[in-house]
Amino acid sequence: MAEEKKLFKVKIDNISVEVEPGTTILNAARKIGGDIVPPAMCYYSKLQGSGGKCRTCLVKVSKGSDADPRPMPKLVASCRTTVMDGMEVANITSPEVLDARKGVVEFLLLNHPLDCPVCDQAGECHLQDLSYEHGADSTRYEFKRRTFDRVDIGDKIQLHMTRCILCYRCVFTADQLTEKREHGVLGRGEAAEIGTYIQQSLDNNFIGNVIDVCPVGALTDKTFRFKNRVWFLKPVDAHRECHDPKCCGKTVLWMRGDEIFRVTARKDKYGEVEEWICDTCRFDKKEAKDWIIEGPRQIERQSVISQGHYVGVHKPKDPLVDVLDGRQPKLLLDIHNISEVNKPNVDLSKIQGPAHSDDFNKK
Ligand code: SF4
Ligand code: SF4
Ligand code: FES
Repeated sequence: MAEEKKLFKVKIDNISVEVEPGTTILNAARKIGGDIVPPAMCYYSKLQGSGGKCRTCLVKVSKGSDADPRPMPKLVASCRTTVMDGMEVANITSPEVLDARKGVVEFLLLNHPLDCPVCDQAGECHLQDLSYEHGADSTRYEFKRRTFDRVDIGDKIQLHMTRCILCYRCVFTADQLTEKREHGVLGRGEAAEIGTYIQQSLDNNFIGNVIDVCPVGALTDKTFRFKNRVWFLKPVDAHRECHDPKCCGKTVLWMRGDEIFRVTARKDKYGEVEEWICDTCRFDKKEAKDWIIEGPRQIERQSVISQGHYVGVHKPKDPLVDVLDGRQPKLLLDIHNISEVNKPNVDLSKIQGPAHSDDFNKK
């Protein structure tokens, strides 16, 4: 009989869980789920070697293990620290951790622009969520922030380095998913930046995945830039038979009416891509007829997008029905069918750059 694997017992914020040896504290916390899961801006379970860069996942190890119960002297990155049997960890129950996380967020925002109102990532941005949940009200930084010009990386992706938090996820994605990696982090310290050297385009059929893994709006889809806000779009699960064997063909279409504004991979509740998709599915299949629609997608991660999903809603009683003696009132006018205002002349997802008033019918 095969010998049963011994599991390690760990306590995180006083909740016990049993995990296999070699599991990180972060993944043990994910096994428990809920509020005690530390935020992670650079760790990505699908990318080997990720983690250990951003420090947002810091936790306090108050008991090392049953064999050596001494606490760890400093806060540790939970995405890189593996559990020991009998370990006790504090995350949201430790004021020290919460205070340190506030400091980490302040660091991440040192050079970050106040671009949210115009940033394509707004509404699904992990840095927005992190700042809201763990950040301080103001910054103590008084110096000039570093800025960069926007760079086109190939014809479908734009890099806005000013928003980058140097998490390295895009570098690992290019390294592990495509045949040739041409970009990386150049320079060190304040001079560090994502670069391609002589701005070579990253042209291979899986590079679009860097857009999905980027936790902020530093890498954006040029076919979608400024076309719409994500919370105005309806996420829909769809699939197609893709001929690239590495592509799963399962995507989320972001639609308004019949128009597909963008195509992304499907993400789990931690904002991580479930399965990778190729650039043909992402950039070139923007017609509803290209896809087999499965149905609306529930966005699990707390997000302004999921605010549109009303569940368990009780409709108030319509007093008009009583007044009309039980008869249903008829709609007299459907303004959307009558008005020409706000009807674009062109498919908005097809125009270059932001929409202009000329793109809309005017009376
Ligand atoms: S990356 Fe996120 S926090 Fe930064 S400007 Fe865009 S939406 Fe705002
Ligand atoms: S561009 Fe995005 S994914 Fe790449 S290092 Fe910067 S923040 Fe991370
Ligand atoms: S998620 Fe652990 S250091 Fe970034």
